[in-house]
Formats: sequence, C-alpha cells, structure tokens
Amino acid sequence: MTHSSLSYEWVLLIFFYGILLMCMSSCLKSAILGYLYLGVNNLIGNIQAWIGNFSSLYVLGLFENNFQGSIPSDLGHLQGLKFLHLNGNNQSGTIPPQIFNISSVYFFSITQNQLHGSLPPDIGLTLPHLQVFYCGINNFTRPIPASLSNASQLQRLALEKNGLIGPVPRNLASLQGLVGHYLNSNKLGYVKDDDLNFLNFLANCTNLKVLDLGNNYFGGVLPNPIANLSN
Ligand SMILES: *[C@@H]1O[C@H](CO)[C@@H](O)[C@H](O)[C@H]1NC(C)=O
Ligand SMILES: *[C@@H]1O[C@H](CO)[C@@H](O)[C@H](O)[C@H]1NC(C)=O
Ligand SMILES: *[C@@H]1O[C@H](CO)[C@@H](O)[C@H](O)[C@H]1NC(C)=O
Ligand SMILES: *[C@@H]1O[C@H](CO)[C@@H](O)[C@H](O)[C@H]1NC(C)=O
Ligand SMILES: *[C@@H]1O[C@H](CO)[C@@H](O)[C@H](O)[C@H]1NC(C)=O
Ligand SMILES: *[C@@H]1O[C@H](CO)[C@@H](O)[C@H](O)[C@H]1NC(C)=O
Repeated sequence: MTHSSLSYEWVLLIFFYGILLMCMSSCLKSAILGYLYLGVNNLIGNIQAWIGNFSSLYVLGLFENNFQGSIPSDLGHLQGLKFLHLNGNNQSGTIPPQIFNISSVYFFSITQNQLHGSLPPDIGLTLPHLQVFYCGINNFTRPIPASLSNASQLQRLALEKNGLIGPVPRNLASLQGLVGHYLNSNKLGYVKDDDLNFLNFLANCTNLKVLDLGNNYFGGVLPNPIANLSN
C-alpha cells in the first residue's frame, strides 16, 4: 500500500467520523433521538450520564454488553422512556431513586447485574405502567414491595436469585394480568405453616402460567385452592 492511498483512507475515515459526530451532536441539541439500541455488543466502560440528555428517548436498550459501574441518576431525566433494557451487564451499586421515578416506563429489565439495595416500597406508585419488571440475578435484599399491586398492568414479575426476604404480598393477587411470577432462589418465607397462604389469593390470577417459588424458606403445606390455578 502506497503512502498516498493510506492517507486517502484516513481522510475518508476522518470525514465520515466528522459527519457522525455532527449528526450525534445535532441529535443531542434537538433531542430527537427516540430509540437507542446497542444491545448484544461488547461495549465496555460506564453508561454515560449524557444519555440522560436525549430527552425524547423512549427506548434504551443497552443489554448484554460489559457495562460496569453504577447506573447514572441522569437517566432519570428521560421522562418519556418506556423501555429500559439493561440486563446482562456488570452494573453495580444501588439503583438511583430517579430511575424508579420514570413513570412512563412499562418494560424494566435489569436482570443479571450486580446491583444491590432494596426495591423501593412505593415502586408500584412511581412506576404505575409497569407490564414487565425483571430484576432477577442481582443482590437485592429486603422485602418485595406490596405496592407492586398498584401497577395494575403488570404481566411478568421476575425477582429470582436475589436475597429477598419476608412474605409474598397477598395483594399481588389483584394483578389480574399476571402471566409469569418468578420468585425462586431468594430467602422468602419464615419456614412457617402459613407461608404459602398467599396462594389462596393468587387463585384469582387466572392468566398465571408460571409460578416459580423454588429454593426459598417457605414452610407448611400447599393450600387447597392451588387447584384453582388451572392453567
Ligand atoms: C446535559 O444538558 C445540560 C443542559 O442542557 C448540560 O448542562 C449538561 O452538561 C449536559 N450533560 C452532559 C453530560 O452532556
Ligand atoms: C464484573 O466486574 C468485576 C469487577 O469490577 C470483574 O472482576 C468481573 O470480571 C466483571 N464481570 C464481567 C462478566 O464482566
Ligand atoms: C420523583 O417524582 C416526584 C414527583 O414528580 C418528586 O416529588 C420526587 O422528588 C422525585 N424523586 C426523585 C428521587 O427524583
Ligand atoms: C452478591 O454478593 C455476594 C457477596 O456480597 C457476591 O459473592 C455475589 O457474587 C453477588 N451476586 C451477584 C449476582 O452479584
Ligand atoms: C394501592 O393498592 C392497594 C391495594 O392493593 C390500595 O389499597 C391502595 O389504595 C392503592 N394505592 C393507590 C395510590 O392506588
Ligand atoms: C378475587 O376475585 C374475587 C371475585 O372477582 C374478588 O371478590 C376478590 O376480592 C378477589 N381477591 C383478591 C385478593 O383480589
């Protein structure tokens, strides 16, 4: 390869890179970017705070990369976000409360990271449109928030493989659309006779197809109405 053809390629590269940067900066200025989907790549480093400046963003898909560090609280500025998909990274720390305040979100997945802390008690009120809530395979502790029952469109609730403690809130039975309910591999229950009484109530969730309660501290016997979970 001659010296002149090499520099020609460089000029081209710099030209296209320049155009890309111009596009990105004008997107930022006018904030028209609605859809940012970079899932299943090998991206490394931290999720950058400036993503929170794409104020029109409604889809943020950064799943299955190697992002690490904490989730920037600036993402809480994305007040039109509907789809937050961060699963399968190496995010650590706690989830900033601002993230649980994006009331427009209906798809929330942070499965398989190294996040810890608690799920906020009022989460069903701050995220009222939740349809999918996937927080499994992290290190969340504390009880399951009973307020999730207020997210009345919830269909899939997956909190498996964490360190959650306490009872399964009975009022989750009011979630008529619930299809999948994964609570396996936590520290739920008290090894007591009435630990599974919530199943009496879940009999109301007629759409329920998967209920995984394995590997917890549930005691007692299976209540009869589980037969009503006919599906
Ligand atoms: C986001 O926008 C605000 C104001 O529009 C600006 O002050 C801030 O520096 C921006 N943040 C980043 C990380 O670019
Ligand atoms: C996650 O981060 C830790 C330390 O920050 C590192 O040791 C580990 O290899 C990372 N895991 C993956 C899957 O990237
Ligand atoms: C969440 O939103 C409410 C109402 O919009 C606001 O009062 C509160 O300060 C917000 N919390 C955080 C942590 O941003
Ligand atoms: C949870 O934390 C423990 C120690 O604090 C650690 O060994 C484990 O890998 C963590 N699990 C996940 C899924 O991050
Ligand atoms: C949340 O749901 C409970 C019942 O599950 C209900 O008593 C309470 O009023 C609801 N709160 C709001 C703010 O809707
Ligand atoms: C179950 O459904 C019945 C009939 O629709 C209703 O009266 C009852 O309040 C429901 N129970 C719960 C726990 O949601």
